[in-house]
Amino acid sequence: MTTSFEGQLEERLDRFEVLLSDAAVANSPFVTEAARHVISAGGKRFRPMLVFVASAFGGEPDEWRTQQAAMVMELTHVASLYHDDVMDEADVRRGAPSANRFYGNSVAILVGDFLFSQASYLVAELGVEFVKLQATTFARLVQGQIAETVGPAAGDDPLEHYLGVIADKTGSLIAASACFGGMATGAPESTVDALEAFGEEIGVVFQLSDDLIDINSDVTGKTPGTDLREGVPTLPVLMLRADDDPADAELLALIDGDLSDDATLARTLSMLREHPVMQRAEAVVHEHADKARAHLADLPDGDAKDALLQVCDELVTRTS
Ligand code: IPE
Ligand code: IPE
Ligand code: MG
Ligand code: MG
Repeated sequence: MTTSFEGQLEERLDRFEVLLSDAAVANSPFVTEAARHVISAGGKRFRPMLVFVASAFGGEPDEWRTQQAAMVMELTHVASLYHDDVMDEADVRRGAPSANRFYGNSVAILVGDFLFSQASYLVAELGVEFVKLQATTFARLVQGQIAETVGPAAGDDPLEHYLGVIADKTGSLIAASACFGGMATGAPESTVDALEAFGEEIGVVFQLSDDLIDINSDVTGKTPGTDLREGVPTLPVLMLRADDDPADAELLALIDGDLSDDATLARTLSMLREHPVMQRAEAVVHEHADKARAHLADLPDGDAKDALLQVCDELVTRTS
């Protein structure tokens, strides 16, 4: 048996894997298999990790409640991935064929709904406050996805719209994960509030870095350039548009053009990767990571706080 904070976290995440796989069991082998398709392909388990770390701030350790809370967050996340990959027409997820490619859009959507219903069952066992937070979080997440799909209204600042979208579609669930951890172990209200503020900000960092990785990295288990191909403008592209520099006309024309051809997408990606706007976008990620760190200031020092600070460091430099 290991006693270090990190060792205990690993053990809890190992137990979590077994419980999560059980939570995907449906009434038929086909649905179980389809529900496990994305779950068993892996994933970083970032939200469960946050639940476990945040749970250390509570005075009433309760492994069962914490595991339930972690499952609710990951099941909600995975459900949103099934739906997101339909929306983004993605071919690959977690290094495997996406559920929409493998089973078709209808099954992928319905399996996402099934996983969400499993999350709803588990969250009910935790109590009304958890159910409310889960509901408001999912409402924010889907409204973020809708706002991204619809785009900014005439007269809206596209950069502000984008920051609102990523806070809603990603920050909301990561904030809820940090809250759930504290709530599961009876952390004081001020601690849960600080965890929520931290989670919201680190969630923005998480999505900002995901969006840069979509441009920069070939090792994500997803297809690079999906955002560009789908016409989803992310930070560097929005910055380029705001600059309106004639020197960027060729690159912007490529970005706004038809990127369905692999060679054109690759050329656009490589031009963007080499553009100084990428460094400016990275600086914005650092600014948000600093804000996230500041939310931890009043939390008690110790292994859990150190772990959250380390999360900040890792997210700004991650490549997958
Ligand atoms: C992908 O989330 C969707 C985003 C909010 C960017 P993750 O990057 O956490 O995906 P997995 O769970 O590790 O596959
Ligand atoms: C997905 O955003 C956010 C949610 C699933 C709510 P992205 O479209 O950027 O995520 P990836 O890149 O497909 O993982
Ligand atoms: Mg996507
Ligand atoms: Mg998307």
